[in-house]
Parts: sequence; structure tokens; C-alpha cells
Amino acid sequence: MNKKLNAAKKATEFISDGMVLGLGTGSTVEVMIEELSKKIKAGLNIKCISTSNRTTKFANKFGIIIHEFDSVSKIDLTVDGADEVDPYLRGIKGGGGALLYEKIVAYNSEKNIWIVDDSKLVNKLGNFPLPVEVIPFASRKLLMKFESMRLNPSIRKLDNKNFVTDSGNFIIDCKIGEIENPKELEKELKMIPGVVEVGLFIDVADYLIIGYNDRTEVLEK
Ligand code: 5RP
Repeated sequence: MNKKLNAAKKATEFISDGMVLGLGTGSTVEVMIEELSKKIKAGLNIKCISTSNRTTKFANKFGIIIHEFDSVSKIDLTVDGADEVDPYLRGIKGGGGALLYEKIVAYNSEKNIWIVDDSKLVNKLGNFPLPVEVIPFASRKLLMKFESMRLNPSIRKLDNKNFVTDSGNFIIDCKIGEIENPKELEKELKMIPGVVEVGLFIDVADYLIIGYNDRTEVLEK
């Protein structure tokens, strides 16, 4: 917990008065939201945008109002977590199933910070199963397609039913192993009809904050 807290606290130092802030999704972001709520109570004046129903609910619980994505013209900074990060600050995201809105919000943000504990650092992406968000209508066909591509796919389940994302889609998790060319794979998968979004985040993070037990490290792209 200390690791996440250290990374979360460091991230709040990047947030200043008047900012429009994107809130990512996941347990590390939730630690950050709790820290942020203390600063807001102490007078910090910011506008927050959310990347998931989960984050919206969590932020509301801590008294943080979430504004509509369409109500702002730009987002100054987004703070999000990641499932894996390589030395080039490329990542796999979507373990929490929020990859689509996370990528949209990140794309519309001036700057993106990822907060992770050191267990998320890898030399090559792909040990964490790559989440691919797909249209339900195409999901069986895509499963077969991904099998033929040797991506070891499986449809994500929750309580024995297909997991459904905030936008009503399914997720296919691909146990690929080391991905030689993440950028190419992202492009290749996105070209397939029925694929909505891919959990490879290639040129997104501007800063990576790594939380250790006793310190943090900030890497800049
Ligand atoms: C959700 C995500 C999260 O950022 C990722 O799963 C990391 O979560 P956590 O901080 O709980 O490890 O991509 O879709």
C-alpha cells in the first residue's frame, strides 16, 4: 500500500489550481483520489473528468464532483495507472476494463502521468494479458481470429457472465507473452472490424511515477 500511496502523493504535486484534471481508473488512482480530496477540502480549485463509472462513484464518495467530458474543451493533466510499463514508457492498460475511455481522455489531455508501483515495470510488454475491447456482435469471430493469430485469447468473465464495459462492449484478454513490436500490434489489431480499442498505450505517458516502499522515482519521456 505504501508504494501506491507514495506514487499517488507525488502525483498530487503536479496538480495545481484552475486545472482540468482527468482521473484514470484502478486501485492506484483511487489512492490518489483520496489524497486529492484532502487538497480539495483544503481549497484546491480544480475540475475533474472521469474515465469510468467506477472512478466517478469513488470520487463522489470523497466529495469530488465529476464534470461531463463534453463540458470541457481541454484537459490539462490526466493521472492514470497501468498494468505494465516498459523502459520507453509504453504500457498495457485495461486490467480494470476502462481502456477505451482511458485512451480517449488521455488523447485529449495536454499531459499524462502514470502512477505505478515497481511491480509494474517490465523490460518487454506482454506478460500481462493484453485487453482488447470488442463489439459483442463480433466477439466470437474475433476470438477465432485472435486464436489464428496465436494471441491466446479468452473473453473476460465476471460472475460467469461476459464482462461488460462502460460502453457496453466485451473484452478479450490475450496472453501473448513478450510483444516484439507493440506499436505494430496495436495498429494491426485496430484495423480488424469489431475491435474498438486495444490496451497498448504507446505514445501516451509523459511522466511515469514509480512508487517504492520508501521513495518515488519520476521518469520523463
Ligand atoms: C484500468 C487500468 C488501470 O490503470 C490498471 O489496471 C492499473 O490498475 P491498478 O492501479 O489497480 O493496478 O488500466 O482499465
